[in-house]
Amino acid sequence: MLSYIIEGGNKLEGEVNSSGSKNASLPILAATILSGKTSTLYNVPNIQDTQTMLRILKLLGCKISKKNGKVNIDSRDIKIQEIPDELMRKMRSSVILAGAIIGRQKNATFSYPGGCDIGTRPIDLHLKGFEQLGIKIEESGGSIRCHCDKITGNDIHLDFPSVGATENIILAAVLAEGDTIITNAAMEPEIVDLQNFLNKMGAKISGAGTNIIKITGVKNLKDVSYTVMPDRIEIGTLLCMSAITGGEIIVNNVKIEHIRPIIHKLEETGSKVIIEKNKIQLIGTKKLKATDIKTMPYPGFPTDMQSVFVSMLSTAKGTSMVVENIFENRYKYVNELTRMGAKIKIEGKVAIVKGVRKLVGAEVNATDLRGGAAMCTAAIAAKGISKIKNIEYILRGYENLDKKLTKLGANIKIQK
Ligand code: UD1
Repeated sequence: MLSYIIEGGNKLEGEVNSSGSKNASLPILAATILSGKTSTLYNVPNIQDTQTMLRILKLLGCKISKKNGKVNIDSRDIKIQEIPDELMRKMRSSVILAGAIIGRQKNATFSYPGGCDIGTRPIDLHLKGFEQLGIKIEESGGSIRCHCDKITGNDIHLDFPSVGATENIILAAVLAEGDTIITNAAMEPEIVDLQNFLNKMGAKISGAGTNIIKITGVKNLKDVSYTVMPDRIEIGTLLCMSAITGGEIIVNNVKIEHIRPIIHKLEETGSKVIIEKNKIQLIGTKKLKATDIKTMPYPGFPTDMQSVFVSMLSTAKGTSMVVENIFENRYKYVNELTRMGAKIKIEGKVAIVKGVRKLVGAEVNATDLRGGAAMCTAAIAAKGISKIKNIEYILRGYENLDKKLTKLGANIKIQK
């Protein structure tokens, strides 16, 4: 078990580069299976989740080489269609491989993702979508087998704009016969990145970024090289971490349009945000102001930023009201934050955050990936030393967080 030891109180100041997006890399890595050719990817973050995904791809038969931030995946010799249970448990989002494996092999077996650290994560919308493409689904003993002779395009309406279901259906439909149209599709930027990657590989997809996506099935795909988009959640996290210290930072390699909902809320709390072409500067305020937040599918405020924002708001002047609309169990970290002096009351999906003057260092747990980032945010601003345990969660999704924070002036160490 690894921990961060953070001595709070330093302003976060300076310049830092964003990493590649975790949530774009995972479906794109899965998509490399479809081509049976070579994919060269740049800007894939070196984090636990992408390492797990690469391990699964290797087990399935892909040849992988990594050098200086460049990942080469040769998917010619895929033999296995089963995602190992142990790896499936390690990373629930490995379910995204199902669409790619079925798309390529017409046969995929994986275990049920079940509940997880931020609430139950059903995959009913993924499976319903597969069925509408002519894929048969057999469930037994926690294992799901999807198979078919051919995949046939269809009109699919999602009851909820699920990111994972939208991506999985796209992946299954790329090599299908005919057209697939997904309505009420998720509009997240990571889906646009997946579309751009697949189109560069020879797929025919349009509409990603809107709620109607059209996929015209193609017979073959080709070699591709592609650069993954910047991680909008990492960028938002770094901005909040600087804002809570009243610091001043510049983050480079930013797609501004992806983080507008975050910028808007940062401005409401009193921070000044200056936007340049692909960089963003935050000039912190002496005293943050309370604001209200509702998490929503994109372009609403992202659920993945909720915990980090609450952490920041816990020292703002006034009372903030936060509504979590996407995942029901995303307030687990609040108990830990309370140990550091935060005053937060939870009523179902609502959190009432009463700003305190100062947080104090404490020994706390990272309860999940984004909850862990929230604890770091609090610890950086708190008086005294904090120990954040179980940082394996944080390492799943943030590349070199300790190094980036050290560069910005934080006092942070990893303890074994
Ligand atoms: C993705 C992101 C995650 C982010 C989330 C919402 C990745 C790897 N993860 O997760 O970081 O927090 O989008 O922006 O990209 N749902 C169903 N049935 C389904 C699928 C989802 O009811 O079949 C529900 C979920 O329980 C949840 C909501 O839909 O309440 C949103 O989930 P979804 O958009 O699918 O999130 P993920 O793709 O799992």
